[in-house]
Order: sequence, then structure tokens, then C-alpha cells
Amino acid sequence: MSAKIFFTCILATLGVGYIFAMIQVFEVHAGRDGKPGLSVQDIKIAYSGNKSDTRLEAALKGPMQSMLPENERASIINWVRSGSQREEYESKISKIIGERCLICHDGSDPHRPNLTNFENIKELSKMDTGTSIATLVRVSHIHMLGIPAAIFIPLGFIFLFVHTKKKRAKAIALAVPFIAIFLDIASWYLTKVSDIFAFTVMFGGALMAISFAYQWFTCIYQIWWFECDSDYCDIP
Ligand code: HEC
Repeated sequence: MSAKIFFTCILATLGVGYIFAMIQVFEVHAGRDGKPGLSVQDIKIAYSGNKSDTRLEAALKGPMQSMLPENERASIINWVRSGSQREEYESKISKIIGERCLICHDGSDPHRPNLTNFENIKELSKMDTGTSIATLVRVSHIHMLGIPAAIFIPLGFIFLFVHTKKKRAKAIALAVPFIAIFLDIASWYLTKVSDIFAFTVMFGGALMAISFAYQWFTCIYQIWWFECDSDYCDIP
């Protein structure tokens, strides 16, 4: 009974923790493509960037379009595309921004980018290349060391005691989450090379969640409701 209660407490904490982790993933990535929900496109943008537009250009083509006449809009877009040089900014762009944008973008509202100086505007006209390799390395080591230690080692340890009809099924169920972690994390980097890997990021994440759910429900069920009468039963 002590073991049953101890294992159930571990499983309950892991289950709630996993739900929080999924909410966190959703919060961080959903809607990057402008549409609600979490899609492969969101993952692509998160890891490899939004190749189509810089943030400044996207704003000028979208919500800020009506703030200035067409020829001035074209001047700013051309300036961004030709590498946002300081000389042209000083001779031409700062005047347009001053006349058309600063009424709302003088830095007084934290929800609107501050357009009062060259450095800020330059920052908005940088190509979005997604999460940097340095950040990916940092997040990779945290995930590869943290996820097994915090989730799949305790869960797998409890799962070792369950009864499965085929011994092979248990071995596979124990190995899959580790394969999924490799698949997921390797795909973050590979998404920078090819968009296809945004699918394997999602597939790896889904595989991890499914194997978690399978192990979790099997453990809870067998701890409390399973009667063992088979010769092959692993339960002592
Ligand atoms: C009448 C007020 C107003 C003027 C004028 C205005 N903006 Fe904005 N701008 C906003 C508001 C409000 C937001 C934040 C909400 C949104 O994105 O619609 C915003 C957001 C932005 C963003 C950020 C979009 C993002 O990626 O979230 C950029 C870039 C921008 N504006 C550029 C400009 C430029 C360049 C001009 C001048 C040509 C300009 N704005 C003129 C009100 C204004």
C-alpha cells in the first residue's frame, strides 16, 4: 500500500506537470503566423524565422499601411530591402518617420515599438531568422537532461512494474519517449535547413505525449484496478 500511494503521488504530480508543459508550449508558439492555434507554420517561424518579411515591412504592408502615402511607404520598404543604411536614413527616412509615425511611436506606449532613433528602427528591419543556435543549444541541454530526469525516468521506473502481454511491448513503450526527445530536439536545428522538419518537431512532441499518456494510464490502472492471474505476470 505504501508503494501504491507513493507511486500514485508521483504520477499525479507528473500528470499535472505535463499539462502545464503543454500549455506552456502552446502559449509560446501558437499564433506566430497570425492565425489562432498551434500549427506547423508556427513551428517553422519559431525555429527558422519568418523569411517573407521583416517586422517593419510586415507592419507597413499590414496594419500601418494607411499611415502614410504610397510613395513614402515605397521609400521605407526600399530602404529596408537595400540593407537599412544610416546615410539614407538620415537623408530621407527619418523625415518620413518623423512626420508620419512619431505621433504614435514616440516611445510613450510600451505596446508600440519606439521609432525615435535609428537603432530601434534598424532592429525592426532585421530579417527574422528564428531562434538563434546559441539559444537552441541552451534549451537543448536543459531539455535533454531535464525531461528524462524529471519525467521519463520516474515514470519508466514505475512502468517497469506493469504487466504487459508481450514483453516486447514494454521495452518499446519504455524506449519511445527517449527516441521522441532526440527526434524533437534534432528537428529544431534541422528546421533551419529545411521546413519539412517542422513536421518532425510536432511529430516528436506528439509521440512523447502519447507515450507519456500510455505509460501513465497503464500505471494508474494497474496500481489500483488490475488483478494479476497470468503466469507471465511481472508484478511480484
Ligand atoms: C495613429 C497611430 C499610429 C501611427 C500614425 C503609426 N502607428 Fe504603427 N502602430 C500603432 C499601434 C496602435 C500599433 C500596435 C498595434 C498594432 O500592431 O496594430 C502599431 C504597431 C506598429 C508596429 C509593430 C507591428 C508588430 O510587429 O507588432 C510597427 C513596426 C509600426 N507600427 C510601424 C509604424 C510606422 C513605420 C509608422 C509610420 C509610417 C506607424 N507605425 C504609424 C499606431 C500607429
